Amino acid sequence: MPFAKNFMWGGATAANQYEGGYLEGGRGLSTMDCRLPGNRHEYRKVSFTRPDGSVGYASRYEAVGEGARGTILEDRYYPSHNAVDFYHHWKEDIALFAEMGFRCFRMSVSWTRLYPSGTEETPNPEGVAFYRDVFSELQKNGIEPLVTLNHFDLPLYLADEIDGWCDRRTIGYFSRFARTCFEEFRDLVHYWITFNEINTIRDWTKLGNKDMSDQTVYQAMHHMFLGSAHAVIIGHEVNPGNMIGMMCAYGSMYPYDCAPDNYMNNIVSLHKIQFFCDVQCRGYYPEYKLKEFERSHVVIRKEETDDAVLKQGTVDFIAFSYYFSNVTRADANVEMTGDQSHAVENPYLKKTDWGWSLDPVGIRVACNELYDRYQKPLWIVENGLGAEDVFEDGTVHDAYRIDYLREHIRELKKAVETDGVNVLGYTPWGCIDLISAGTGEMSKRYGFIYVDLDDEGKGTFRRFRKDSFYWYQKVIESNGEEL
Ligand code: BG6
Repeated sequence: MPFAKNFMWGGATAANQYEGGYLEGGRGLSTMDCRLPGNRHEYRKVSFTRPDGSVGYASRYEAVGEGARGTILEDRYYPSHNAVDFYHHWKEDIALFAEMGFRCFRMSVSWTRLYPSGTEETPNPEGVAFYRDVFSELQKNGIEPLVTLNHFDLPLYLADEIDGWCDRRTIGYFSRFARTCFEEFRDLVHYWITFNEINTIRDWTKLGNKDMSDQTVYQAMHHMFLGSAHAVIIGHEVNPGNMIGMMCAYGSMYPYDCAPDNYMNNIVSLHKIQFFCDVQCRGYYPEYKLKEFERSHVVIRKEETDDAVLKQGTVDFIAFSYYFSNVTRADANVEMTGDQSHAVENPYLKKTDWGWSLDPVGIRVACNELYDRYQKPLWIVENGLGAEDVFEDGTVHDAYRIDYLREHIRELKKAVETDGVNVLGYTPWGCIDLISAGTGEMSKRYGFIYVDLDDEGKGTFRRFRKDSFYWYQKVIESNGEEL
């Protein structure tokens, strides 16, 4: 059997796209609560107020500017506020996951549910109780939680008052939050991820940066690396049995052709992802990045112990998301942002309705590249097809989703069986329909379970099993043999 007996089949979600209950249980506001919906042609924007009182909007590529404060406008719909209301449906959802046979479930803890402003000395007891209930229910159903400490969210107070990760104090606040999670859920959670897709984190919602200069962004990332390293150190201290991973968005990259310049450029483009893995897996900044900093006059301000902390806080495994591959060219700049609108076309591949290339082989490429370079266990914590579903007679006939997943699992199997890559698990994204991170839509659905909600936030939140629900149930039951 290619997949180990205890291979972690499951599904993945994130609090800001799934949980909702944004003003309940003592939760504080997060930067993600200021994020408006967009659509497949228009970027999502955050709403903020400038020091002169005027309201501004910024996409992930735009700076909010000095003195900006995140703002929620009364007459607008913000998808994270209710999301798909896991907050009130957790028992029912976990029962459905158990029915599919999940062995693990990936979710994130909302930072502001535990620390409403980020700065409190002690955690919010209601928040702790909520997650304890959820994790206990998962364990009761034989499902191991895989918990992401930070999935794109940042307490709004920290962003407004101290520019979030730009300020070293955020490392301390995050470490306290991480310690709380490790201690409070010690008996219930054994698998952790520090930051989701750390290589795509450049914008205000995630870093709290008011400007987009490389100097600001890399300094903030340095603090985030330290936050992650501290979390790993604390997590191991609280429970040496904890497995703690990093997480990146891994879109495999192919050179446009065999022109030597294009091949060389592909190596340089891969560095854009590898940088994050290098620091978190090896514990130090790679030479190519230090040279880049020299050329672009980026100076990282470090304290004496930083290097030792990075070294000590290396991760136990690499988690990654894989949705599509990219093509690189010496004369085109490829950004790993989950946005393929400016991507170089691959003539061999078809695309989804949202313009993402369809490339199952790319998942095997990713597994090989990561395993060869780091020899750490891998975990595919996101993969899937975002598609518009037709809901009729209480279900969705989503053969297209089944095809996508089947082809990817086949290639994953080759990575394990033929190439000998150590893969711990597979948790497809949005195992239950949830809000799209990129567009804020509901109509971009990934789930095995349909949720009755539309792009304006209207619906009953009722859950329905799709055809893929029964298909995935068989996949798990047969440990990946019956595809
Ligand atoms: C990853 C994120 O980028 O891709 C998820 O970790 C996100 O939060 C997923 O939802 C799919 O992207 P999208 O834009 O289709 O939701």
